[in-house]
Formats: sequence, C-alpha cells, structure tokens
Amino acid sequence: MLDKTILPDNELTAWDRDHFFHPSTHMGQHARGESPNRIIAGGEGVHIVDRQGRRSLDAFAGLYCVNVGYGREKIAEAIAEQAAKLPYYHAYVGHGSEPSIRLAKMIIDRAPQGMGRVFFGLSGSDANETNVKLVWYYNNVLGRSQKKKIISRWRGYHGSGLMTGSLTGLAAFHNQFDLPLPPVLHTEAPYYFRRPDRSMSEDQFSTWCAERLEALILAEGPETVAAFIGEPVLGTGGIVPPPAGYWEKIQAVLAKYDILLIADEVVTGFGRLGSMFGSDHYGIRPDLITIAKGLTSAYAPLSGVIVSEKVWRVLEEGSDKFGPIGHGWTYSAHPLCAAAGVANLELVDELGLVANAAEVGAYFVKNLKEALVDHPHVGEVRGEGLLAAVELVKDKHDRAFFAADEKVGPRVAAALLDRGVIGRAMPQGDILGFAPPLCLTRAEADVVVAAAKAAVEAVLPR
Ligand SMILES: Cc1ncc(COP(=O)(O)O)c(C=O)c1O
Repeated sequence: MLDKTILPDNELTAWDRDHFFHPSTHMGQHARGESPNRIIAGGEGVHIVDRQGRRSLDAFAGLYCVNVGYGREKIAEAIAEQAAKLPYYHAYVGHGSEPSIRLAKMIIDRAPQGMGRVFFGLSGSDANETNVKLVWYYNNVLGRSQKKKIISRWRGYHGSGLMTGSLTGLAAFHNQFDLPLPPVLHTEAPYYFRRPDRSMSEDQFSTWCAERLEALILAEGPETVAAFIGEPVLGTGGIVPPPAGYWEKIQAVLAKYDILLIADEVVTGFGRLGSMFGSDHYGIRPDLITIAKGLTSAYAPLSGVIVSEKVWRVLEEGSDKFGPIGHGWTYSAHPLCAAAGVANLELVDELGLVANAAEVGAYFVKNLKEALVDHPHVGEVRGEGLLAAVELVKDKHDRAFFAADEKVGPRVAAALLDRGVIGRAMPQGDILGFAPPLCLTRAEADVVVAAAKAAVEAVLPR
C-alpha cells in the first residue's frame, strides 16, 4: 500500500525543480529539467540509496565528510537524547552544555601539540571567517594595525563566503562575485604534476614555491602580511598531496616574517590521511586549525577553530583590554551538533578508523595506480590515506590537458556512477576524486578500483 506520507517521485521532482535553489548547480538546466536530479533516501555503511532504489557505493563520503559511514545508530541516538534533554542553549557569556564542553576537551586531546581552545561554528566557511577575524584581532591587540593581509594558494579551497570565497583560489568562486576582496593574496599551488618546469625535482619545486611566497611577502611588505592559510593536502583544487619538503620550506618563510599559519583541516582532520590530523602527518605546526566535516561525520553541522596557546594568550590580553570578544553565532557549540561530535569521535576510536584509513588507504591508492597508471590518458594517480585522485590528460607525453568544454572529468564520473560508484569530478581540471568513508574495507576498495578502471576505459578507450 502507498504510504501517504511519502510523496510520489514526480511531484517531489516538480517541487525540486520549481522551488529548491541548489548550491553549486547549473540553475537554469536544473529548473528546466535538462540535468538529472537525484533524491537520496537512505544510507548504510559506505552505500547510499535513492528514491528509485538505486544503490551506490559513495566513494566520496558525501562531500568528504561522512567519515564513519551512513546509518550509525550511536550518533543518531546521541542527537535524539540531547534533543529530548536540551535542544538548545547558547554559548555566549560563559554558557555551555555538557556535550560542547566534553567535545572541546576531546578535540584538544587529539589535536597537534600546542593547541589550547576550540571556538565552535557550523561550517568550514564560517570557521575560516572566524580565523580571519581572530588574525586581525590578534594583530590589533599587538598594535600591528598594518599587518592584515592573508595569503592563500591558487587552487586552495577554504569556503564560499565573502572572505573565505576570496581565500579559495578557484576561478568559479570569484568570477561574477567581485572576489577576491583586497586583503587576500594568492601564491603558487603546491601541484608538482602541473609544475611550470618539468625538469624540476620535487624538492626543487618546493623550494620554488617557498621562493615565490617570499617574493610576494617582500613585494607587499612583511609588515602588512598577517597569515598564510593552506590545506595539508590540497583538496577541492585537485586532491594533491604536497611535494617533498614543501611544508618545511613554507614554514621557514612564515617564521622569518612573523606570519601566522592557519592549517585548514576541514577535509584532513580526524583521520582522513591515516593520521588524526594532517598537521601531524606532515610536521606542520599551525597557529590556528580549521575543522568541520569529520568532526561529526556530517551527522549534524559543526565546525571549529582550534586556537594555539600562542594565539590564545594574545586574545586573552585583548579581552582584558577591550572587553568581551565581539564575535559569535547563535548556533556556536549547538548542543545537538556537539552531542553528534562526541558520539562520532568515540566511534572513530572504537572502530579504529584512523588506522583503517592508513591501511586500506595505502591498499586503495596502490591498486588504483596499478589499474590506471599505464592508461594513455591517465597523467597521474595520487593519494594519501583515503584521499585519492586520477588526473586525466589529453596527451600523457606532452602533459597536454583536455579543453574544459569536453567535460572529460564529469563524463568519467558519470560513467563511474553508471557502474554503481560515486566519485567526484573535481571542479578545475579533469580530475576524478575519491574520499570514501574511513570504514571502507579492502573488498569495497576493490569494487571502487574496478569501477574506476572500467569508467576511464569506457570514456577514453585505449
Ligand atoms: C578545506 C576546506 N575548507 C573549508 C571548506 C568549507 O566548508 P563548508 O562547505 O562547510 O563551508 C571546505 C569544504 O569543502 C574545505 O574542503
């Protein structure tokens, strides 16, 4: 019998086309019904299922966020219990709830050395907005009113707000939005495969990136540059692990000019690389860390800024001078989201997911390389932990890329979906990205590799 509470597909689809403004979607094509819509109804483990009953292995964990996988009762129950007990109270003027305080402690226990406090928000974007404000506040407390510019990298991704969309180094997030805003500057992407001079070794390329950063700082005036922001592994810009020596060389430049380092660990935090944090993985010593996604595995929206003791001391001095900090969101440290975070981090530990990401990740990346690296249109297969990419090229020998309007990446992602696996056509370049839930098994990794090989070969026959 038809459940009257469930709308027929055609009606729901009509409402979707008529009323729902989707993010990162071709608005006209969606509204006119020219592009497919997919209404997701459920999920279990690494799989999602849509209203037509089509099941897909989600090898991108939503948007690299459902790290513990779908259908975890423990987290659902923690949210429900908290909703029954106390759905909301604010965190202003010293207020809190037990889960938000417990979660702050759990984060600091897991964070790299030298971290002391957590400011909670709801999205990676708002956490990076907080970072920018804290950096400016910090320099104002220190009396350095000129030191305000923030350097990001081309192809970095830090959100889509006004400042964070400016920090993001991808054209689609700037064009037609009058971004980037002036306090934001961009330097080279640490993208060895796309290095300008192919004779460079990885180490030479890292040196070149650090030299370019230093040249930018000197051109702007070091007294005007406040912070550098980067993801330990470049994410949305192409899933690119850093070249050898990169972080060490960058940090030497930042230290020389007293520039703060913001590690954006929205993707890499809480295990994705096979280490709890990407900063520990690469020897990064950040002043501020951005977290979101894996903090709750997206069971509820929650982000945070982890503040180092060094920055905290100055912030504290600031409130002694200027009074309570004028920054906060209604939903900062929302109790339901914090309860989800506590249950999620407990689950990550109980299931050993950080170690699993290291172990199954190494297996997955090795097999993906073996399956595809000799394909004439595969320029590179790269990855770290459970974060991987296949970069497609027109000509391997000359490292020539396809024209964007050939849509090779999206076509390969569609062919992959036809084979029951979700990967992501990354937004700039023909790059097929993978970031499966951290509970992926070897058998599930085999399914993804086989489907990826078949999809590439279907779109780009040898
Ligand atoms: C590294 C990084 N920072 C920030 C963000 C922005 O997070 P949100 O989409 O939750 O605002 C993202 C989102 O993908 C991200 O990958």
